[in-house]
Amino acid sequence: MVIIGAGPAGLVLGNLLLRRGVDCVVLERAGRDAVQNRARAGFLAPNTVRILRRHGLDEGLSRRGREHGVCEFRTEDGRFRLDYRRLGTGEPHTVYPQHELVTDLLAHFLGAGGRVRFDTEAVTVSGADGPAPEVAVRDGDGRPGRWRARYVAACDGRHGAGRRSLPPGAVRRHHRDHGVSWLGLLAEAPPSLDAVGYAVHSRGFAGHMARSADITRYYLQCARGTRAGDWSEDRVWDELDLRMRAPAYGPLRRGRIVQRAVVPLVSDVLEPLRHGALFLAGDAAALISPSAAKGANLAVLEAEILAGALADALVHGDPGGLDRYSERCLDHIWRAQEFSHWMIRLLHGTADPSDPPNHPADHRSSEPSDVSDPSDPPGASGFPAAGAEDL
Ligand code: APR
Repeated sequence: MVIIGAGPAGLVLGNLLLRRGVDCVVLERAGRDAVQNRARAGFLAPNTVRILRRHGLDEGLSRRGREHGVCEFRTEDGRFRLDYRRLGTGEPHTVYPQHELVTDLLAHFLGAGGRVRFDTEAVTVSGADGPAPEVAVRDGDGRPGRWRARYVAACDGRHGAGRRSLPPGAVRRHHRDHGVSWLGLLAEAPPSLDAVGYAVHSRGFAGHMARSADITRYYLQCARGTRAGDWSEDRVWDELDLRMRAPAYGPLRRGRIVQRAVVPLVSDVLEPLRHGALFLAGDAAALISPSAAKGANLAVLEAEILAGALADALVHGDPGGLDRYSERCLDHIWRAQEFSHWMIRLLHGTADPSDPPNHPADHRSSEPSDVSDPSDPPGASGFPAAGAEDL
């Protein structure tokens, strides 16, 4: 078994396969330090915590994770606090920085004898329609190599080798550009709210998400074409204060901005998530816009589903789970996509007339979606199949 990518999807998959006695190697193009220090998401849904706990992978988040159960919306009409924990299942989200989760997962995997080849970039996956797919790689010195396996799991994100290696027409791509970009910021500053903060403002959206006791993630809607370095720190904080209505609700706690990136809000879902012996999971399978913090949660859920299916096939000779993998995951992906799309419209006031009033029924969850928030609105307008194209 070859797994491409040492992110949440790849490392959860590797840990679960190892537990089921499946020999696997993870190929990761970055070095270990880079993987362990790359700040990404950090908002884990209750079911994600359950999955990690079920497999004994929750030690770090149980000790250092912080519970969250309230969203605070700020608009020109005032402030509204949504206690989704009380209104929903009573379970909180857990704020736990993703790079800390990845560090935990890596330690578990290596400690259990898992193999990771860092600084090893997968270039192509070939032979996926046969019994022995091959992964061509290039190491940190540019030396070529090859790995052969019974199955390959591409957990290498939207621009990885897995997607690149899909033959034309093998999958349909449902791509949507929501026409909005966010300037994502990581500040060395304690959180300014005891909630996830969403500000809807005539100048654009602003968001506040705690990451730890002294690190906070902020988002500022910005014009397409904005570059990450365009805004000075003063301009960032003044704009955040303005949009979060600091004069009415108190100034934000400022600090040094240690990471910034411009994120165009796009969604990009493949269907199916399998081509022969090549399986896609995480962002490689479906990129969900960050408006609803679904990406890492879907990645963990898909990894658990794929791990069970692969183990049944490799250990027990039962390929049934692999045949159902794509359909099972897409149910959850489309539900997460509907909610994410609804949040984009809510936070940016983009009542796009081209949006269909309701999501095509065939993309609704046939089972309660495990990555959905308790506050997921029923029937939120969803993600039209329009714009689908064959890859
Ligand atoms: N060869 C080897 N490794 C690769 C290649 C490649 N060609 N391309 C990408 N990678 C590695 C990246 O360096 C990264 O470590 O694959 C990993 C992909 O990890 P993520 O981007 O975190 O993707 P995934 O595991 O799917 O997690 C998805 O986590 O970052 C959050 O919310 C975010 O939705 C995202 C979610």
